[in-house]
Amino acid sequence: MRKIYLIGIGAGNPEYITIQAIKALNLVDVFFFVDKGDAKQELVDLRKEICDRYIENKSYRVVETSDPVRDPGIPDYKTRVEHWHRERALLYEQMISLELTEDQCGAFLVWGDPSLYDSTLRIIDQIVARSQVAFEYEVVPGITSVQALAARHKITLNGIGESICITTGRNLAAGLEQMERVVVMLDGNCVFRSLAGQEKDTEIFWGAYLGMQDEILVRGNLSDVSGEIEQKRTNARERKGWIMDTYMLSKPDRK
Ligand SMILES: C[S@@+](CC[C@H](N)C(=O)[O-])C[C@H]1O[C@@H](n2cnc3c(N)ncnc32)[C@H](O)[C@@H]1O
Repeated sequence: MRKIYLIGIGAGNPEYITIQAIKALNLVDVFFFVDKGDAKQELVDLRKEICDRYIENKSYRVVETSDPVRDPGIPDYKTRVEHWHRERALLYEQMISLELTEDQCGAFLVWGDPSLYDSTLRIIDQIVARSQVAFEYEVVPGITSVQALAARHKITLNGIGESICITTGRNLAAGLEQMERVVVMLDGNCVFRSLAGQEKDTEIFWGAYLGMQDEILVRGNLSDVSGEIEQKRTNARERKGWIMDTYMLSKPDRK
């Protein structure tokens, strides 16, 4: 039967790869690379570097395809994403059935870990539910951007016995979660800026391109450093054409 690996490759540093991931990489006949546009060519290049560096037998193939575009005509966010996922499911299903023979292994190299703000597993579930192509699949965990952020700032994510919350910029904009510590991902709008005035004691630990050569780290009182972060973020984004950043907001007395 065909087999698909969803391999977590870590959040940007090729050395975040686990031994389990290297073993899985070496079993793969066909890698599916999904191109998300020119600005993210660097992300495709990292996947190629990982294959070059860790695979001993170079007889694998790479199939590249372009990600479907989200339909801006669908106003509701959730409906728009669900529609986009259905399109991706059809595309992935086609690749799995056309590019793999019955006894071959394919793989999607997932940024960070497949369990965190990534839709590949949801898409695979949809393909399984459609029953058009038979395959088994396995998930190999990877180092998330949240772990990379904590390591690079040398911080623990939770206070003693406390909980942490991992959320998105979109949710943060709807109201700061009532937690002592909040890790924020997917914040293209620098929502932390609007909190800088209100949350005077809050500290921010911010990181962009974590684990990569262009890594930028900033930490400090949110009111003091939010302008600096915004400036660095804008400059880096202009220079590279894309940015990935994650941050933790923390009440200082609970560190
Ligand atoms: C679609 S999510 C994917 C998360 C990924 N599955 C993970 O495990 O980290 C993309 C978001 O992850 C965060 N991210 C991923 N890699 C990062 C990196 N190297 N540096 C900073 N943030 C990163 C950013 O918040 C970015 O907007």
